[in-house]
Amino acid sequence: MAKKNKGEGYLSAKEIRAISRANRKITGEMEKKWKRKNVPESEYLTTMRDPANAVEFDDLHSYFFTDAGTVKSVDGVSFDVPIGKTVGVVGESGCGKSVTSLSLMQLLQRPQGQIVSGHIRLNLGDKAYDIACTPQETMQKIRGNAVSMIFQEPMTSLNPVFRIGDQVDEVIELHDGEGKTKEEIRKRTIESLEMVGIANSEGVANMFPHELSGGMRQRVMIAMALACSPKIIIADEPTTALDVTIQAQILDLLRKLKDRIRSSIMLITHDLGVIAEMADYIVVMYAGRIVEKGTAEDIFYHPSHPYTIGLMESKPVVGREVKELYSIPGKVPNPINMPDYCYFRDRCEKRLSCCNGEYPCEISLSETHKVSCYLYDERFADLVREKGKENGSQSEEGGNA
Ligand SMILES: Nc1ncnc2c1ncn2[C@@H]1O[C@H](COP(=O)(O)OP(=O)(O)O)[C@@H](O)[C@H]1O
Ligand code: SF4
Ligand SMILES: [Mg+2]
Repeated sequence: MAKKNKGEGYLSAKEIRAISRANRKITGEMEKKWKRKNVPESEYLTTMRDPANAVEFDDLHSYFFTDAGTVKSVDGVSFDVPIGKTVGVVGESGCGKSVTSLSLMQLLQRPQGQIVSGHIRLNLGDKAYDIACTPQETMQKIRGNAVSMIFQEPMTSLNPVFRIGDQVDEVIELHDGEGKTKEEIRKRTIESLEMVGIANSEGVANMFPHELSGGMRQRVMIAMALACSPKIIIADEPTTALDVTIQAQILDLLRKLKDRIRSSIMLITHDLGVIAEMADYIVVMYAGRIVEKGTAEDIFYHPSHPYTIGLMESKPVVGREVKELYSIPGKVPNPINMPDYCYFRDRCEKRLSCCNGEYPCEISLSETHKVSCYLYDERFADLVREKGKENGSQSEEGGNA
């Protein structure tokens, strides 16, 4: 890490040049690895830890090598997406949700964005790929066929100068068009549009994106993403740009289509309401790491990490009267200069003296429920009890005052 100038947070031109030189060296080596041709399959084929999983993220590290320093956007993330299930990834903006999913698609903004270490095992039935070392050439065949993505803002993902039908045709032709005539491809396009609930599908196929509403555009995006029956669908904030009633329709549609083509969904959102409706499993991220994960029941009924508890308290609940909605105090640490201790410490109302030490390791609360927090570490049970007593007596004093 480069030395800071007297003005905290500022780097001199010389320091920036040195960082950028070092970055070019690191990313240059990595780019060579991605661009290799005719790489033997043995280098990137792998075996799943559990064949019932569609994807296994295993200690994934994805960094951005910027002129200001290295941004550790995803810093040791491990979780599974079981076949046929929906896994919700939640956390506030900038915590690394999109970077995790873009790593699975190998769509990080290269050369500065790189998967630095770890594994992403993708189960395609007959074969399993480790995406973290699959060369670009092979990845082009996997992307869109086995894994596809629905983005947040459909208008920026659709091309404004082409008709809807032509854009869906192109996707089908590219991924599943071998030996098919133009008419057959168009028939598939119309079927896909009907499948996502577009009534006048032939008419819509002749329209331009700007002639459709936001909800219709998102349906078209879903039709394109699902046209080749992918094994895994990544939905990155799929309903954030839509109003509430359309949001419910789109979520319902996603759920039905997932069951129809037997795929899995990785659903990324900052909206706990969306997660509650859709997810079987939940992963809670904070500053590039997973702080808690478990089944939807584990997380909603027994939230354990102080950050997850804060998230739950900050969502409005019908029937619960509050003067002011709770917000978690403080801010996320600077991603270029992460501390050695728990990243949530400076915002945590429950912190203990041991929280000043190294980053807490993952603790199993049950077979499915895991949390990274010293409050659940047996070694510090006495400290937790003492803190509990202190808080109890403080609140009694407060009550008497
Ligand atoms: N192209 C990029 N260059 C540098 N930093 C980036 C880039 N894309 C994302 N980041 C950083 O990575 C972190 C995680 O971003 P992201 O995964 O997009 O967050 P979110 O959880 O909101 O989806 C953020 O700190 C962001 O600034
Ligand atoms: S490890 Fe300590 S600081 Fe971090 S969330 Fe748990 S109690 Fe709070
Ligand atoms: Mg995002």
